[in-house]
Amino acid sequence: MNTSSVPLISPDQQAIEQELVETVVASFEKTPDPRLKQLMQALTKHLHNFAREVRLTEEEWNTGIEFLTAAGHITDDKRQEFILLSDVFGLSMQTIAINNQAHKNATEATVFGPFFVQNAPEIPIGGDIAGGANGQPCWVEGTVTDTEGRPLPGARIEVWEADEDGFYDVQYSNERVAGRAHLFSDENGNYAFWALTPTPYPIPHDGPVGKMLEAVGRSPMRASHLHFMVTAAEHRTLVTHIFVEGDPYIKAGDSVFGVKSSLIKRFVQQLPGTPTPDGRELTGTWARTRFDIVLAPTPDLM
Ligand code: BEZ
Ligand code: FE
Repeated sequence: MNTSSVPLISPDQQAIEQELVETVVASFEKTPDPRLKQLMQALTKHLHNFAREVRLTEEEWNTGIEFLTAAGHITDDKRQEFILLSDVFGLSMQTIAINNQAHKNATEATVFGPFFVQNAPEIPIGGDIAGGANGQPCWVEGTVTDTEGRPLPGARIEVWEADEDGFYDVQYSNERVAGRAHLFSDENGNYAFWALTPTPYPIPHDGPVGKMLEAVGRSPMRASHLHFMVTAAEHRTLVTHIFVEGDPYIKAGDSVFGVKSSLIKRFVQQLPGTPTPDGRELTGTWARTRFDIVLAPTPDLM
């Protein structure tokens, strides 16, 4: 051991380790698909560099294998522990950053998460996505435009969220569809719907990823948010959320690194009896927010 407690590796030992890296990299040399070859060779180098840098012990390697095995065992068609793992490492957000580069004033993307469901019900403009889920009613309105400010009529807007207890419909044992829907922007690119005021909730943390977060002293909580996926012809599909200004987990840290300041919106609280935008009768408090969505063109049109 040297003084900085990094073990000194003799030149002979380094040569043995380096030779192995090069042999493994060379084993992918005949990969017919050039992209697959690049991925496999780079992955090999990074994996070996990691093991060599930290001087990985056999016990630690075993623990890693046990962790991945547990992640596999808990994964099924409803639970995806590997995506969760990618999320808590910030790898999902890094991949999003690489693939959704800033374009003029286009709305920023954020993490997809595991709770999107295909074929959520269609609602008209002004409809309610709650479907019986509990929470404070929240009016959400805005426009969908391109980066030149031109309205995009007929854009498909998918929205989904957890209820006030922090659960998505798919996390309950019944088959109820709640807290999700899709609608289309009108001829002027406008949209509006009722949802629930988002509240903070933890990512699923009863499995190996949750154990890992606990071991490193990290919280599983996500800042309150409402998910959107917006698609329009000739435009880049936008997967994003809006976050509630003032939410404590914006400051304390979102467990999957999804917060971007441009996506933090004011959710203005309304007193009981305040008239609603569409005349809906509500006895209690409600909230309202605005989210103007700007879509980038598809990369071939940029
Ligand atoms: C979500 O926001 O739904 C989510 C995102 C990443 C991991 C778990 C949940
Ligand atoms: Fe979510």
